[in-house]
Amino acid sequence: MKLLKRSTTCGALSATDVGKTVVLNGWVHRKRDHGGISFINLRDRYGVTQVVVDADASDSLKAVAAELRHEFCIAIEGVVRARPDTMVNKDMATGTIEVVAGQLQILTRCDVLPFQIDEESDAKEETRLKYRYLDLRSGGMQKRLALRNAVAFAVREHMIGEGFFEIETPTFIKSTPEGARDYLVPSRLYPGKFYALPQSPQLYKQILMVSGFDKYFQLARCYRDEDARGDRQPEFTQIDIEMSFVERDDVLAMTERLFGHVFRKTLGVELPKTFTRLSYDEALERYGSDKPDLRFEMKMQDFGPFVAGSTFQAFKDALSEGEAERQRQAAKGVTVSGGGVKALVAPGKADYSRKQIEELEAAAKIYRAKGLAWMKVSAGVDGQPALEGGASKFFADNFAAVISGLGVKVGDLILVVADSTRRVANIALGAVRSKLGKDLGLVDPKRFELAWIVDFPMFEYNEDEQKWDTAHHMFTMPQAQFHPTLESDPGSVKGDLYDLVLNGFELASGSIRIHDPALQKRIFQIVGFNEADGEKKFGFLTESFKYGAPPHGGIAPGLDRLVMLMAGQTSIKEVIAFPKNSFAVSPMDDCPNEVDQKQLDELHLTIRYPEGHQGS
Ligand code: AMO
Repeated sequence: MKLLKRSTTCGALSATDVGKTVVLNGWVHRKRDHGGISFINLRDRYGVTQVVVDADASDSLKAVAAELRHEFCIAIEGVVRARPDTMVNKDMATGTIEVVAGQLQILTRCDVLPFQIDEESDAKEETRLKYRYLDLRSGGMQKRLALRNAVAFAVREHMIGEGFFEIETPTFIKSTPEGARDYLVPSRLYPGKFYALPQSPQLYKQILMVSGFDKYFQLARCYRDEDARGDRQPEFTQIDIEMSFVERDDVLAMTERLFGHVFRKTLGVELPKTFTRLSYDEALERYGSDKPDLRFEMKMQDFGPFVAGSTFQAFKDALSEGEAERQRQAAKGVTVSGGGVKALVAPGKADYSRKQIEELEAAAKIYRAKGLAWMKVSAGVDGQPALEGGASKFFADNFAAVISGLGVKVGDLILVVADSTRRVANIALGAVRSKLGKDLGLVDPKRFELAWIVDFPMFEYNEDEQKWDTAHHMFTMPQAQFHPTLESDPGSVKGDLYDLVLNGFELASGSIRIHDPALQKRIFQIVGFNEADGEKKFGFLTESFKYGAPPHGGIAPGLDRLVMLMAGQTSIKEVIAFPKNSFAVSPMDDCPNEVDQKQLDELHLTIRYPEGHQGS
């Protein structure tokens, strides 16, 4: 049978096409029969068109129509006619017309479906991933992949327009420490040697700067063997960018222009020309997170000033223990912040039940808080605000100071976390803030609040190994004012690095890089990398820097996270065609899988299974 080849798509026809003969190809989305008439909703990637097999159609046509089931792939030829006014479907782009079938071909049949193809599937994730080809037919997945395509196009359009070159870097690279675990590829030709899949093109993009490609970008595939989360996949895509002869603000401004273009082009959303900037310390103190959700205000406040005047021993102990630890660390040359008592006011939520408060406490405890103290603000005998319930009895002497200091009103709920480590108090209360934001419906999925987090600490103290690590990567430039004190006080050094956050997610990270081999050597030494180590792992980069390396810096927004947030989703699997599940497995093709002994032999590999291994 000769294929009836489509003359148009299922999303294209309108009232202006009435009377035309058209051919459509697509899938049977829905079918219903009414008094001898069959209505077929025919679907392709462009939309849905109603096809009608009329009561006076030929018997052979009716016989083919009778055979049709959901998801049969079919071709129809027919004439476009206007729907009667009462039958117009305003929710359908093609809702004013229908096509009266004259010919109908079944191209392929469809087995019993594991789930119904709808706008969004309600099947279990594992089933959706096993039959991903069907899941991808859903309206939701089709729209999200269309958005992803539009975003990628807008990125390329903008970057190339600004004079950037897209340059591909290798996916088989030398294994270098970059934060997560590498995925490794054994070499057949060199027994015992491995290629690593890049966690990011970091070193190559810096080398491209040495080579004079002063504006580089790439939609780069990255691979990281790390624990799965909603916003993480073992393989993902970065919009990787690097520029020469720039300072931090040049990179930030370029990124603001790029995002402005992408949001305008794809969603028609006008972003502010410049994004809010918060220092890392401010973000932690105010929002308890280095990726705060700024769609709602609800700032955390310092409760420390009210502790001395209270009788709350637990709060006093947190501060004094924190101070003792701060002094102990200071004696070792390590700067830590001491203890902290932080408060959050939930306006008008004094009616929260004990159970609701316990749920908030559970969120705080995930982040190592010992508890969540609470007090309600009620009207006292004189009608003035007073503290009631929970920890209020400890503040009998200074409740007025608490009320005016926090700026609370009758009906508010005060939540407090105290810890001998200020960071723990901040982060735990930050988790309470996030939960409250969601519970109180303060997070609007249609709003985009972008913010830069700047002035990150350059080093983090690794308690387990009792040494300093770099907080980002080893090529980040420490801010110039800290260069003299790098070795004597690593804990206070701020790096020239920045994150871009969007609605509570880290969207991008970047930094100005070190281009001076002598400074690079100092950083290696601080993190306990001796020269030989540095040489072995990154020798090619430091070697290249000897040949006139330009000052440079860059950034890498995650494409998957960007599209996820633009599409109002909370899992990046929703914007990736073929993602892995939470166990890093693809249920559709059963990857990873075992390979033949012959393949292992060629690679000179012997598998040592862990004890108790049961096979796959
Ligand atoms: P970083 O490691 O912070 O920086 O990654 C940059 C951005 O990539 C995205 N991302 C991920 N997306 C999905 N799944 C993952 N497993 C995953 N890991 C990271 C995030 C993140 O903000 N080379 C540096 C960038 C630079 O300094 O220029 C880097 O890779 O959106």
